[in-house]
Amino acid sequence: MARILITSALPYINGIKHLGNLVGSQLPADLFARYMRARGHEVMFICATDEHGTPAELAAAKAGKPVDEYCTEMHEVQSELAQGFKLSFDHFGRSSSPENHQLTQHMAGRLKAAGLIAEVSEKQVYSNADGRFLPDRYIEGTCPNCGYNRARGDQCENCTKQLDPTNLIEPRSAISGSTDLEVRETKHLFLRQREMRDQLRDWIKSKKDWPVLTTSIALKWLDDGDGLQDRGITRDLDWGVAVKDGQNDWPGMEGKVFYVWFDAPIEYIAATAEWAHANNLGDEAWERWWREDKGASDVQYYEFMGKDNVPFHTLSFPATLMGANHDGTEPWKMVDYIKSFNYLNYDGGQFSTSQGRGVFMDMALSILPSDYWRWWLLSHAPESSDSEFTWENFQASVNKDLADVLGNLVSRVTKFCRSKFGEVVPEGGAYGPREEKLIADLTEKLRAYEGFMEAMEVRKSSNELRALWVLGNEYLQEAAPWSTFKTDPEAAAAQVRLALNLIRLYAVISQPFIPDAAQTMMQAMGSDDWSWPTDVAAALATLPAGHAFTTPEVLFAKIADEQREDWQARFSGVRA
Ligand code: MF3
Ligand code: ZN
Repeated sequence: MARILITSALPYINGIKHLGNLVGSQLPADLFARYMRARGHEVMFICATDEHGTPAELAAAKAGKPVDEYCTEMHEVQSELAQGFKLSFDHFGRSSSPENHQLTQHMAGRLKAAGLIAEVSEKQVYSNADGRFLPDRYIEGTCPNCGYNRARGDQCENCTKQLDPTNLIEPRSAISGSTDLEVRETKHLFLRQREMRDQLRDWIKSKKDWPVLTTSIALKWLDDGDGLQDRGITRDLDWGVAVKDGQNDWPGMEGKVFYVWFDAPIEYIAATAEWAHANNLGDEAWERWWREDKGASDVQYYEFMGKDNVPFHTLSFPATLMGANHDGTEPWKMVDYIKSFNYLNYDGGQFSTSQGRGVFMDMALSILPSDYWRWWLLSHAPESSDSEFTWENFQASVNKDLADVLGNLVSRVTKFCRSKFGEVVPEGGAYGPREEKLIADLTEKLRAYEGFMEAMEVRKSSNELRALWVLGNEYLQEAAPWSTFKTDPEAAAAQVRLALNLIRLYAVISQPFIPDAAQTMMQAMGSDDWSWPTDVAAALATLPAGHAFTTPEVLFAKIADEQREDWQARFSGVRA
């Protein structure tokens, strides 16, 4: 039994996530967590809302709420949606938790002690009307290059020219529109990542099994141009973790907070502490997952994220953890494997939170149960390249894979048995060559499925699972117990006995993808035996003759053309 730590990139707090966000980290992480638990491993699966930063403040202002209240509410909303999608987190934390405040300040103190923090004075735009410093992208004005009058302080959207806020003609605050701006001097902390360049490179190069997508992004940031830049880790904002060093205030940094990307990954650890405290466990309970000197040396740590998150997880966060262990007294657990994803597009364009384009988690659950979405998203996960959601494709694969193949098998077998033998597993004779062939084929595909699941090859896993379902259907088609019954009821009974056992086996192996349907199948088979079918022949003898079952309701209803057209029209435009 192994100990497996799994984190999903933390969803940002500023709104309900779309299906592209979901399939880019939380959902595949859940698939992996469920599989590893099913194989008997000890799993810690952590996620949380990422609650600090300017976007959270702005979203709260837009909603007309104090930011802490807004975050509490949105956390609750995201938590319920996560439950709706059956995401099996051991804990869904909040980066604004006391645990994270404390740990973030502690880490900063460790970095300071290591000499890895520089204090730098900068000039920054201050808005008198808003009473705050403005990040570059919250300053708007006229582009000096093309004359576009809504250019942002960091870049002109119209001509793509990179800008500095001071280049803008007639600059104004994007928050209030005020032109009462001035340049002020302000001090910030920088993490001296350049100092850790060699250490980071050695660490990345030691990860021989990382996918090319991950390593190439990491090395590009490490070596490109000027190479790794020292990184500002503080901001002039109200909302966030106050800049302290874990013991004392930080002179000159009053009223400032840590940058959201500094405290967010630390929340992976802090959320595990939240889990421990929520379960009345002491610190040793979370430390055995995160501290190599306190039991975590045998932990395998996997991170799931979209490709845009890779630089932070291959460079900045590891730099924080390495720096915190500068004297060897705090060996923090570092990631062993990063699984990163490309983007999912929506119907010929991009999913967009700001434009409300696409299907969002709440809308998805309002029209169909989560298993439909889980199956489609996972079987089309954007792994080797971007992938695209279209309603036609969604309808076609759900109808074919879930309704025609899996659902149909369950329904045919249970109904036929009920009508000829009643709702108990029939006796019948021994299994013959056809059954032995099926067992051999199932075994072969199951071993392939296990290999892909272990390797986090999401699409390939779904292909093998589908192929396993197809084998059962083909067997049923060829054995045709409904015909066999007329001439040889004994043989038909044996075929049905096998098929009923197959339903239980499918429940076990399909559970990571479609947990609710798996539960329905298992319950219908009157069983609670979720043990993994390592030995397929033995697994197909689990339900003995005479064992009672029930015939379930339709497992998966087909999506009709009218429904598809209706949804297509409803979700084509912009969310209100
Ligand atoms: N909230 C970030 C995003 O949506 C991800 C943060 S991952 C973390 O891109 F590790 F930093 F928390
Ligand atoms: Zn321009």
